[in-house]
Amino acid sequence: MNGLLKEIESRRAFRGISDSPIEAEVQDRILTAATYAPSCSNKQPWRFIVANNDDARQKVQDGLLGGNYWAKKAPLFVLAATKPDLDCNLKENREYALFDVGQAVMSLQYQAVHEGLVVHPMAGFKDEELKKLFNIPDDYVLITVIAIAHPGDDTELSDKHKELEHSARTRFAREQVIALNQWKFEK
Ligand SMILES: Cc1cc2nc3c(=O)[nH]c(=O)nc-3n(C[C@H](O)[C@H](O)[C@H](O)COP(=O)(O)O)c2cc1C
Repeated sequence: MNGLLKEIESRRAFRGISDSPIEAEVQDRILTAATYAPSCSNKQPWRFIVANNDDARQKVQDGLLGGNYWAKKAPLFVLAATKPDLDCNLKENREYALFDVGQAVMSLQYQAVHEGLVVHPMAGFKDEELKKLFNIPDDYVLITVIAIAHPGDDTELSDKHKELEHSARTRFAREQVIALNQWKFEK
C-alpha cells in the first residue's frame, strides 16, 4: 500500500521460523526499540524477560499451549509483564499499564521486522506455570510471550497454518472501526 512504512505493510504473524540464532546487536536494538515507547507520565510499566539460553527457552517451550508448537524452535522469546500500579490509573477504568506495554511490544515488533525477522506475539501459554518458572510475582500479569526468529519455511506447519502463512491479511471494514467526526458504532 502506497505510503505506509515498509515494516507496517510487511509485518504478519508468520509461523514458519528458523532456529538460527539472533545476533546480539540485533537483539539489543529490538529491546531498545521496546524501551523507547511512550508511556503515561513516562512510567515505563513494561518488564521484559529475555529468554535466549537453553534453560530459559526450555521453560518457555514447556509453557506454550499446543497450538503454538511452531514457536518452540525460536532462538529468542521475550516475555512481557506488568501490573496496574506501575502506570497511570485514571477515572473511568483508564488503567494504562497494559496499553503502554502494548505500545512497547509494537515498537519491538516493528524493529524486529526492520531487522528482517519474524516476530509473533502469543497469548497461548500457561500463564501460571510460566510465571512460576520465571519467578514472576503473583500480582504481575504476564500479558504476552513473543517469539522472535529468522524466517524459515513452512514444511513443519500444520495444513491450517500453512494456509494462513500465505493468506491475505484480513481486517474489519474501515467503517466498522473508524468513524468520522462522531460515534457511529453499535452500543
Ligand atoms: C495479543 C496477541 C495474542 C496472540 N496469540 C497468538 C497465539 O497464541 N498463537 C498464534 O499462533 N498467534 C497468536 N497471535 C497472532 C494473531 O493471531 C495475529 O496477529 C492475527 O491473526 C492477525 O494476523 P497478522 O498479525 O498476520 O496481521 C496473537 C496476536 C496478538 C496481538
